[in-house]
Amino acid sequence: MQNKAFIIAIDGPAASGKGTLARNLASHYNFHHLDTGLTYRAVAKALIDQGLALDDEAIAARVAQELDLKGLDRTVLSAHEIGEAASKVAVMPEVRRALVEAQRKFAENLPGTVLDGRDIGTVVCPDAPVKLYITASAEVRAERRFNEMRAKNTDADYNEILDDLKRRDERDMNRSASPLKPASDAHLIDTSKMDIEAAFLEAKKLIDAALRS
Ligand code: C5P
Repeated sequence: MQNKAFIIAIDGPAASGKGTLARNLASHYNFHHLDTGLTYRAVAKALIDQGLALDDEAIAARVAQELDLKGLDRTVLSAHEIGEAASKVAVMPEVRRALVEAQRKFAENLPGTVLDGRDIGTVVCPDAPVKLYITASAEVRAERRFNEMRAKNTDADYNEILDDLKRRDERDMNRSASPLKPASDAHLIDTSKMDIEAAFLEAKKLIDAALRS
């Protein structure tokens, strides 16, 4: 009987395709899935809803400590402004400490877990047997976001989306607390010229090999 969870750690910038890949892998292997971006978004939304400042670390950390991972609702948390606010609270070490602790606990769910975010392979689960870093050019990612928004009949401006993504990358990659970067032993998958099925097959090959060994 296996008593240790098999952890798949997935990192990458916004709109790289990591979320869809993580969901598809979790469903294929029957593993539990946590989109850790939702945890940062939930803290930001709770602060906004209560009219609290986004830059008060002590208050934000308290909200993070009280967060219930079971209550995360993607439809409510996916709003663009919440993503922006999330990347502001995500620079605070005390917020990260509280959320990372909850994420590590989640990662131990048997038989296995898929966690996606920015620092899973580097900080949250550095011993994960499989680490993937999903990337794509900023232009390709902006185009994907643009098409998604158009499909939902939402007003979208390509250049604005591109600027937003670059700003968020800049904030995520250059903060001092757990900046976004590939772990030294992560497998890089560039989805600029790859559809989601091809990315899935590449990831599956790596995971199957790790599961056999
Ligand atoms: O992935 P998503 O866009 O939902 O993440 C929102 C923000 O949360 C990111 O821009 C990033 O600043 C932060 N985040 C993080 N570490 C993670 C996941 C998300 O800092 N593991």
